[in-house]
Amino acid sequence: MTQTNQHWIERRNAAVARGVANAHPIYADRAENAELWDVEGRRYIDFAGGIAVVNTGHRHPKVMAAAESQMKRFTHTAFQVVPYDGYVRLAEKLNSLAPIRGPVKSILFSTGAEAVENAVKIARSATGRPAVVAFSGGFHGRTLFTTGMTGKTVPYKTGFGPFGAEIYHAPFPMQCHGVSVEEAIAGVEKLFKTDIEPSRVAAIVVEPVQGEGGYYIAPFDFLRRLRALCDQHGIVFVADEVQSGFARTGRFFAIEHSGVEPDLVAVAKSLAGGFVLSAVIGRAKIMDAPPPGGLGGTYAGHPIGCAAALAVIEVIEEEKLNERSLAIGERIVSRLEAMKARGDGAPIGDIRHLGGMAAFELVKARGTNEPDADAAKALTARALANGLVLLTCGVYGNGVRIMVPLTVSDAVLDEGLDILERSLPQTADTGSAAHPPLAATR
Ligand SMILES: Cc1ncc(COP(=O)(O)O)c(C=O)c1O
Repeated sequence: MTQTNQHWIERRNAAVARGVANAHPIYADRAENAELWDVEGRRYIDFAGGIAVVNTGHRHPKVMAAAESQMKRFTHTAFQVVPYDGYVRLAEKLNSLAPIRGPVKSILFSTGAEAVENAVKIARSATGRPAVVAFSGGFHGRTLFTTGMTGKTVPYKTGFGPFGAEIYHAPFPMQCHGVSVEEAIAGVEKLFKTDIEPSRVAAIVVEPVQGEGGYYIAPFDFLRRLRALCDQHGIVFVADEVQSGFARTGRFFAIEHSGVEPDLVAVAKSLAGGFVLSAVIGRAKIMDAPPPGGLGGTYAGHPIGCAAALAVIEVIEEEKLNERSLAIGERIVSRLEAMKARGDGAPIGDIRHLGGMAAFELVKARGTNEPDADAAKALTARALANGLVLLTCGVYGNGVRIMVPLTVSDAVLDEGLDILERSLPQTADTGSAAHPPLAATR
């Protein structure tokens, strides 16, 4: 095998459709915990974690052993045809972790988008209503309905419409960009007056921390007021925890920080530590609304994913990764504050985090909030050249997020933060990112 990144880039360009973008011009060879190596043998610290999928690190020994042991038993029967214990055990475990009082049930799928779509199907079935309210800047997936729910046009929605009917968007509160909780709630109330009566709304779907949209943390008061609107109008409250779940924020579910109880929760990504699995967890009465056969999927709740997820949950509990996430978040943010104060690199704007779900914005001028997407691109390119995998985010493309595995050692975390600091472009550099525009990375 030819071991150069360039070789694979050329073959990829000839063979793979351009619609799937690559954030970085390297090809993975192997990965271990918070580090990965490319096909040329170069080592990188991984602050992207496969887009928040490996909170328990690449190839955690316990997760690998669980997956291997499942592979020795069977790899696929289809839960709808011949069911298996791993699915049931995982549903029981998820039910016990759910941030919901009273009887809870779960159902498993494959991807995050599938989980969100099925949460909508369940909410529609339970309420007999058609409409869904989502938020500007939100990201819910790439299937046609979840693309419609996503609140960012380029690149996610461009050219793909028309989308599913009865999807409405309200503003998401972003204090640093001038949208207050008051305005965001007023936006939902206005929707109810001008576009869709609340009695026809099945679900309000919200990310407790927006992921692709920029790591904006939903103020707890906003979540409480959304809960009150749902209670008032009989609407199902759906928390999309696909990116924020499984210890990323220092809780199993980010919404736990707010004390607000959702009705349904969509999870995926770090649930199975790098294997394909997603779930909807929710109030039993709502979850049981669709009739038998109404939900499912050939690979939904794949046995290897179930085995891996049970191990992931054990690792989170045994290694106290929720506590670790809080400590990692503090460490990251204190370093970012110091970089911001130094004031010699590209200007850093807002820095925010909920536990270890952390991001910062690059801005045009110190003390302003004017987004500088070129600077963010330049930073990720320079960081890669220096041995750090970073990802941008945000409706303005100027956010840089940190999704380092929570199993990272302090030494590797600090090494990554040192590289980040070294890679901050000088203001004059930011117009000339070292590699082509790579915004559409998700
Ligand atoms: C909050 C959120 N919801 C849904 C999705 C879609 O998940 P998937 O890419 O697994 O379909 C994502 C993916 O980034 C996400 O961050």
